[in-house]
Amino acid sequence: MNRQVVFIVIVIAAVFVGATAFAQQHRPYNQIMKDVGATFASLKKNLDANSATAAAQDAVKLEELFTETEAFWASFDTKDAISFAKRARDAAAAVGAAARGNDIKAAQESYSVIQKSCANCHFSHREETGKGFLIKP
Ligand code: HEC
Repeated sequence: MNRQVVFIVIVIAAVFVGATAFAQQHRPYNQIMKDVGATFASLKKNLDANSATAAAQDAVKLEELFTETEAFWASFDTKDAISFAKRARDAAAAVGAAARGNDIKAAQESYSVIQKSCANCHFSHREETGKGFLIKP
């Protein structure tokens, strides 16, 4: 390869990486929620099966997803939704810490705390249309 070709390849790669990072930061909210739903279900399954290591991994993933959730609501400045997302993230961190300490009972308790934040936020900010859900900012 001559230098020009190498340069072009580098530019294309940089544009691609930038575009991917941009797409991830601004992905649609229902995709974040689909991941939250799947990860939360997996966490429940792993806690019920006493699989502490797998549960701890789910908890870490939930922390990241709730950080993404919080960023979404921060852009609307919707204070209660921001705090539901924060509380859910803190509870996910508590699940992770308990699971890493192999304390499944404490992890289950913090799991219920996460669940309250899901319900509170859905009650205030999610509207069922019959065909799907709408966001009420
Ligand atoms: C800070 C607010 C907030 C929190 C916290 C929250 N949600 Fe949501 N969720 C929403 C809103 C708003 C919608 C409707 C938007 C949509 O579906 O596009 C939604 C939609 C969903 C959907 C439907 C996604 C789809 O369109 O198919 C699922 C599943 C879901 N949430 C699961 C959860 C679970 C499980 C938790 C807790 C572990 C949770 N959510 C926590 C606000 C929240």
